[in-house]
Amino acid sequence: MKETEKVHDYELGYHITPPKGLLNDPNGLVHYKGVYHVFFQWNQTDTTHQSKSWGHVTTKDFIHWKSHKPALEPVDWYDKDGCYSGSAVVFKEKLYLFYTGNVRGEQGERSSYQCLAVSEDGIHFEKKGPILAFPIKGYTAHVRDSKVWQGEDGNWWMVLGAQKENLTGDVLMYKSTNLVDWTLTGSMLDEPISLGFMWECPDLLKFAEKDVFVFSPQGLEAEGEKYKNIYQTGYFTGRFLENGKFIKDDQPFEEMDHGFEFYAPQTFLDDSGRTILYGWAGVMEPEVEKAVPTIKQGWLHALTSPREVHYKNGQLTQYPLSETIKLREANPITSKNAENEVIHLPSLQQDILIEWNSAAPDFVINLRNELDIHYQAETKKMTVTRTNWKTNAREERTAFLTHELTELRLLVESSLVELFLNKGEEVFTLRYFVDETNHLLNFKYMDKPLEKLMTLYSLRSFQNE
Ligand code: FRU
Repeated sequence: MKETEKVHDYELGYHITPPKGLLNDPNGLVHYKGVYHVFFQWNQTDTTHQSKSWGHVTTKDFIHWKSHKPALEPVDWYDKDGCYSGSAVVFKEKLYLFYTGNVRGEQGERSSYQCLAVSEDGIHFEKKGPILAFPIKGYTAHVRDSKVWQGEDGNWWMVLGAQKENLTGDVLMYKSTNLVDWTLTGSMLDEPISLGFMWECPDLLKFAEKDVFVFSPQGLEAEGEKYKNIYQTGYFTGRFLENGKFIKDDQPFEEMDHGFEFYAPQTFLDDSGRTILYGWAGVMEPEVEKAVPTIKQGWLHALTSPREVHYKNGQLTQYPLSETIKLREANPITSKNAENEVIHLPSLQQDILIEWNSAAPDFVINLRNELDIHYQAETKKMTVTRTNWKTNAREERTAFLTHELTELRLLVESSLVELFLNKGEEVFTLRYFVDETNHLLNFKYMDKPLEKLMTLYSLRSFQNE
């Protein structure tokens, strides 16, 4: 969270960013004693992937935010090379943080621990040290990113991203009655699946219709329009059984977000039963990451905006949390017509909604002379094109919608965009870097026009408390 008013190009007003240094995965998302806690992987000193602590911000309404001291610092023998990713649960009024202690030996060899820290106020955390040590038989030392939840019988489950000795990705399950003593039940998969060399940041989302197992596999080869980022995040649907096994449906791995920057998401359930997701709007080829212009200002990366996730009628959807609406300023710009239009955005923080009464025909939205958002109705294909800030090449990502397009929502920031189609049936998250003075949005029908309702709300920045 920024401590001062926005002063530079590319700074973000309503996304969580580090005050300085590098941010990556969201961690420990939890609603505890009426407060939402967001922790994140944070290198406080520079914009490299060294020395990760857990940054910590809290809110009661997703608008007013408080920054806190880091909850976990990598200062003990079992986490000296990083307090890596993990999660949080509430038990008997206390907040339990599970995290990965990353340790490198003299020759750089890796070991990892699952560690526990406990808090009674959500601000001060007492480290309890390791509760599990790795490697274990059949697996390499790449075991990390614990996600803990309570099962239907009251026992606790922990799922961990892992790598098998044959260098394929997997997930391990542990069970506990007291959150301190954990027993291995084995792989969460009833049959092995070959998909990359390491699975990071596993999560299990439970819905009435299905369970959704979300994870971030590394090492998938690009396949046509799929898997074009360096690493992916996606999911399998199925059922998690209370014996610790996930029975996967006969469905392929589905990418969760089709943008250039989305990785390592985590979800939590709030008190009203909503499944809320934050992702890391990052993971780029190392050379592209090193060229991100914000590094000159001493900070790097952001979290996505919070999303409410549903699974209904065979469809996973992610849509901005309803609280985002409270960031809207009064007096939006609206236009209802079938014309091409050029709009001067009153600010670079916009929530733009376009609605059609029937299936949208082909169109292109050009944002700030940089992003092209191109829809082809016949194939229900959405393509987003941007300029790679390292190579200057134009590059694109695509998604195919299940239903005809009738609603498009675009959350715009000065250097980040999140695009939601049909109330979150498909999503694209990406960064872009252009001259701050360019405020143009150009909407153009390619062939036959159709009346649409376009509403542009300026969004306020988060308020610091
Ligand atoms: C995912 C990840 C995790 C790890 C953390 C380290 O982005 O590599 O597997 O715990 O980041 O910062």
